[in-house]
Amino acid sequence: METFGHFEDASREYVITRPDTPWPWINYMGTEDFFSLISNTAGGYCFCRDAKFRRILRYRYNGVPMDAGGRYYYIKDGDSVWNPGWKPCKTTLDSYECRHGMGYSRIKGCKDGLEADALFFVPIGHRCEVHRIRLTNTGSAPKRIQLYSFAEWCLWNASTDMENFQRNLSTGEVEVEGKVIYHKTEYRERRNHYAFFGVNRPFDGFDTDRETFIGMYNGFEAPQQVLSGKSGNSLAHGWSPIASHRFDIGLEPGASEEFIFVLGYVENPSDKKFVAPGVINKEAALRMMDAFAAPEQVDAAFAALKAFWDGLMGRFTLQSDVPELDRTVNIWNQYQCMITFFFSRSASYFESGIGRGMGFRDSNQDLAGIVHLIPERARQRILDIAATQFPDGGCYHQYQPLTKRGNNDIGGGFNDDPLWLIFGTVAYIRETGDFGILDERVPFDNKPGTEVSLLDHLKISFKHVTDNLGPHGLPLIGRADWNDCLNLNCFSDNPDESFQTTENKSEGSKAESLMIAGLFVAEGRDFAELLERIGDSGAALVREAVANMETAVKKHGWDGEWFLRAYDYYGNKIGSRECEEGKIFIESQGWCTMARIGADEGLCDKALDSACKLLECEHGLVLNTPAYTSYIKDYGEISSYPGGYKENAGIFCHNNPWVIIGEAMAGRADDAWRHYCKITPAFCKDQNLRKVEPYAFCQMVAGKDAAKPGEGKNSWLTGTAAWTWKAVSEAILGIKPQFDGLLIEPCIPARYGNYKIHRRFREAEYDITIRYSGKAGSVFIPYKPGKQELEINL
Ligand code: BGC
Ligand code: NOJ
Repeated sequence: METFGHFEDASREYVITRPDTPWPWINYMGTEDFFSLISNTAGGYCFCRDAKFRRILRYRYNGVPMDAGGRYYYIKDGDSVWNPGWKPCKTTLDSYECRHGMGYSRIKGCKDGLEADALFFVPIGHRCEVHRIRLTNTGSAPKRIQLYSFAEWCLWNASTDMENFQRNLSTGEVEVEGKVIYHKTEYRERRNHYAFFGVNRPFDGFDTDRETFIGMYNGFEAPQQVLSGKSGNSLAHGWSPIASHRFDIGLEPGASEEFIFVLGYVENPSDKKFVAPGVINKEAALRMMDAFAAPEQVDAAFAALKAFWDGLMGRFTLQSDVPELDRTVNIWNQYQCMITFFFSRSASYFESGIGRGMGFRDSNQDLAGIVHLIPERARQRILDIAATQFPDGGCYHQYQPLTKRGNNDIGGGFNDDPLWLIFGTVAYIRETGDFGILDERVPFDNKPGTEVSLLDHLKISFKHVTDNLGPHGLPLIGRADWNDCLNLNCFSDNPDESFQTTENKSEGSKAESLMIAGLFVAEGRDFAELLERIGDSGAALVREAVANMETAVKKHGWDGEWFLRAYDYYGNKIGSRECEEGKIFIESQGWCTMARIGADEGLCDKALDSACKLLECEHGLVLNTPAYTSYIKDYGEISSYPGGYKENAGIFCHNNPWVIIGEAMAGRADDAWRHYCKITPAFCKDQNLRKVEPYAFCQMVAGKDAAKPGEGKNSWLTGTAAWTWKAVSEAILGIKPQFDGLLIEPCIPARYGNYKIHRRFREAEYDITIRYSGKAGSVFIPYKPGKQELEINL
């Protein structure tokens, strides 16, 4: 089978060996507030803090050709012009390799006895990308070549940058001084930030005006200056500012030259913006340039970045007999959890960085993937999210990372949202034991003076559900629950209305959700336990509400062989054998089995059997079946997707782990394992079919009704990362953080039951050897700081 690369576990890298991957295979760089997306051909962009408002490089989504724009290096060697990453020139290389590692990418291209090795990373503590370009003459004759850099500036707001041309084409401003090109559009007025692209050696020519560098009717693959071996030394005024440096280089056989480029971002205090009228204050940029002037400084910064990731990845490690499992657990799943924590759903090759801020539910779920890695940052995130809640417990569906304020365009009304705050906080406290977070004072809707404790926020989250029950005693769905596309109050027949925000009818709606019901029971139990731990008398009422909900689910939410999905606006069943299409849905099977509702009466086993029988296909469990074949106004967006895609019978990977955990809780190890392997990319053999990165989970893989079942989409930014992490680390491998220790309770097929885990837990380091025979059982390890070796036979 055709392959485009392979895993290299020892270096925690994925090695891409052909540049023409079936879709750009990307990586992320950055750990604090400066972030970059970089594809295997060096395409992509960077931004500071906010992918919409502080975009540094321009990028054209869904362009022709695909993946246009990035940080490109051009080499002109005689008549041939090429790039180490193949694109944009696409000149055939003698060899090519791209290594995507933890927070860096290294792209190497060779042609005609010249090797170009480009290392890209975002150093810790700096707002910049560092590019180390090493050119080596591997041939036997001396070479005279030219190296060009290239980057195109975005005029900061990535949205208006692509819209408001009547203004944009007149605003662009740059400065060139010393070894640095500065992009200062709009700095003259309200902005106090600029970007720069500099290099550690004097250059032989430059360009800052796109038209001069590329030529009006050329593409990135044929910049006229590079073709002619010159530079225009152009200064951009309006139009499209860019940055390009040129070097004329002589290389003896065996000789190497190294160039260190820094692509950075600077903010200045408003009274220190200029050093002379119109001349920007370059001090901070020059300090950053100085920090990477010498190769040793770059080596040290790169080593520090590696140490950062080594530290993180060393907190939970697995040694099993299944290499695909080890590399997923030890490297790529945890890495993706960090990425989703940083980016939420904002910027990927499927998310434009302008559409969506930080999701309330998304960010809470992402916490589950990183609380064991960066607990301090999880703590801050919880407080930021809680501050976007309303006094009645509802919350903004999204907030903007730059301001941390709720997004008015979308508003609230998604009735699952409040419960996820309980989910995220419980995950955090179980991991850290930091009950103190519950006392933190947090405002509503970011309004000073409205502060209450985080604990009170959790209480009103819980109460928001009990305040909003429908006719069957089940939670009202509101605009939508976790499934944003099940829009039961929307009733839209106008294509210009948003499914997410339109409520053509909501007064008197009876629409209820079994997904929220399951979530409420599962999280309600955790919440009650938390309250009991801190001696809060509210626990009893919480337990009572949970018990009532269980009764309601058994009475009104059971369809005979599986759990119903919802009641619609009129009180009709959704996800029932009585329905023609959409007879069964995954979300309620997952949540109600995780909540163990009716387990003693056999409901969970029946629901799981039905999921295996009806929802499972070759590549995973589909969201619903049969797929909707036409638009149903009463249901909204779900029925707008062609069958097999997205929320209409796609394999929506995010919810597969809910069933996996439900299976494990029911002791069904073989089923849990099979579902897990199907959605985990490391087990996938057909890279062409999967199309997207073989090292990243997808939000969605095309389901059995699609034209190409198994084709992956929406890789990287998805709750799948955190949920598969929870499923594999807790449910399958059985390492379950509790408020006062670790519960070891595996559920894995016995043939894989011998493994070792190193687990950092608070101030403890556990080395656990597990021998699991397949029988149900568990061992509790009370928390005790220090190193411990444990042998567990079950
Ligand atoms: C997508 C959902 C997403 C929603 C909100 C829908 O079009 O199908 O997956 O949650 O938009 O952005
Ligand atoms: C993606 C969204 O980010 C998430 O919030 C939602 O739960 C799923 N789509 C399902 O619709």
